Amino acid sequence: MENIALENRVFNPPADIAAHANAKADIYEWAKKDRLGFWDAHAKDMITWFKPYDKVLDDSNAPFFKWFTGGKVNVCYNCVDRHAKSERRNKAAIMYESEIGRQVVLTYGMLYREVNKFANVLASLGVKKGDRVALYMPMIPEAAIAMLACTRVGAPHSLVFGGFSPESLRDRVNDCGAKVLITADGNFRRGNPFPLKNNAEKAMEDTPTIEKCIVVKNAGNEVEMKEGRDVWYHELMAEAKAYYEPEEMDAEDMLFILYTSGTTGKPKGVVHTTGGYLLQTQATLKYVFDIKESDVYWCTADIGWITGHSYVIYGPLALGTTTFMYDGTIDYPDKDRMWDMAERYGVTKFYTAPTAIRTWMKWGTQYPQKHDLSGIKVLGSVGEPINPEAWMWYRENIGSGVAPIMDTWWQTETGAHMITPLPGITPLKPGTATNAFPGVEVDIVDENGEPAEVGYLVVKSAWPSMIRTIYGDDDRYVDQYWKRFGKFYFAGDGAKRDELGYIWVTGRVDDVLNVSGHRLGTAEVESALVECAEVAEAAVVGKKHDVKGESVCAFVILKDGFKGSDELVTKLKKHVGVKIGPIARPDDIIFTGGLPKTRSGKIMRRLLRDIAEGRAIGDVTTLADPGAMQEIASKYSGKED
Ligand code: WTA
Repeated sequence: MENIALENRVFNPPADIAAHANAKADIYEWAKKDRLGFWDAHAKDMITWFKPYDKVLDDSNAPFFKWFTGGKVNVCYNCVDRHAKSERRNKAAIMYESEIGRQVVLTYGMLYREVNKFANVLASLGVKKGDRVALYMPMIPEAAIAMLACTRVGAPHSLVFGGFSPESLRDRVNDCGAKVLITADGNFRRGNPFPLKNNAEKAMEDTPTIEKCIVVKNAGNEVEMKEGRDVWYHELMAEAKAYYEPEEMDAEDMLFILYTSGTTGKPKGVVHTTGGYLLQTQATLKYVFDIKESDVYWCTADIGWITGHSYVIYGPLALGTTTFMYDGTIDYPDKDRMWDMAERYGVTKFYTAPTAIRTWMKWGTQYPQKHDLSGIKVLGSVGEPINPEAWMWYRENIGSGVAPIMDTWWQTETGAHMITPLPGITPLKPGTATNAFPGVEVDIVDENGEPAEVGYLVVKSAWPSMIRTIYGDDDRYVDQYWKRFGKFYFAGDGAKRDELGYIWVTGRVDDVLNVSGHRLGTAEVESALVECAEVAEAAVVGKKHDVKGESVCAFVILKDGFKGSDELVTKLKKHVGVKIGPIARPDDIIFTGGLPKTRSGKIMRRLLRDIAEGRAIGDVTTLADPGAMQEIASKYSGKED
């Protein structure tokens, strides 16, 4: 039971990091005393403006906040030109490896040349400031080039994750009315080409606004090119001129749209703008990962998600750091692929998601142990609450037992980190994202918006990289985020505070159960279950119950070598009861080989609820592995009580 106390252990910042950290000891005090002054100073220091802004924050039309009004700026210029014109010219901007081992290194000077040429390509196809461009691409350098080139010409991009179906792509393209679609022939997944262009082709059967489709030759698989619409990237680039004057964008011009799932079926097009986003992604990365000139930084997120936008591309490049990109599966050719690359590329900062960490835990320590990971100095986690057991495993096995873990809470809507420790300052406890980033004000409130120790997570004041609206639907923006608590932004998450004042995000409020009038986070029960030596992963949902309102139903994946049995069911139920309280004891425990997850790794609890409550299985098209649902459903049938 030694694990039970894990979350109460405190780990102080390593002395070597604390001694030279980018964040100075007074950073919180400074931001607290003068929040806008803090952002103002950073905006002046970290961004190269074509024209200075008049005002830091304009809140006259809240919740439609404006930052750095009157300022003129270009994101591509800040991410590429200013480094290419400095001593960083020959520093690696992007290092890339494909699944089959193809390597590309682009220095800032080389990246400058490529983005300029591609900006000219876009312009030659009629893309102008304000036009939307859709990207459906693998994790290849051309994706970064395309994103940056869009920002150079001032055309907002909309990335659609490469694993999404043609239908999802079509809906997103049509919602934003994109003029051009950029894709690739395919990319490798477990050694076989995945036919991206074919999917794009299906989507384009019904996307009337698309005039041109640019195709990158990547995997070499056969593709059909439609005369007059489809054009090869390499052919256009061969002809393109070497310089394109970066567009002078207003700080509040739209930078990109990124679709994310909401509570309804229709995805929301989250709109981010230029100046504030460019500032907060940089500032957070600099302090949270303590970025130094010699770092090799690796964020494993796909560019199709916000983490890929903010922390694979824009944050690192704006800072002039080296960002590593890998396009492939994490266990090809073997389960040590990630650690092999981390060693070979000399990775110093590593950022990933708890679901990946739990997968590596399940595979065993022999894989990281094969490699020298001693160069990794700071670790990061994002996407869901990290359970203390995974936190410890990560620190021990990837962080050489010493690297601090930055558990970063934020959202597609927030654009950048909001709650996070700082590596040279914050004593860590496994499982908590600790404190708000300097200049960000968050709180926990009850039903009535009053401060509470346990309740809803809210943001109390505007922050630079905040969502500006939902594309084409201002009302939905206000409704979704501001109606609930009036002047506070409602994040949709539940949270609690501990005796140090640290914030523990307990999971989405829509995933919160109410058992006999007691609120219970699904994440809390899952965390308890994965503490058991036999359990690799767990997903908990609420099941309607006549007396209690809801009962706890847990779907559990066991580690290799363990088998489900009645004894184990009893043991797990008991453990949860002991850990959280009898109220949290699951009524049902179902052993399964897989869980329905979105391709970004989020468990689709809605689908599990369907099974638990005996309904027909809903839409499974966004699942990483649609077959997993059938398997669970057949295991569960007949288990109704
Ligand atoms: C969850 C990902 C706990 C949370 C950047 C949030 C987290 C949602 C954490 C946003 C964390 C993300 N601890 N929960 N460190 N990070 N979440 O939009 O529920 O894909 O609301 O953005 O993920 O997911 P999104």
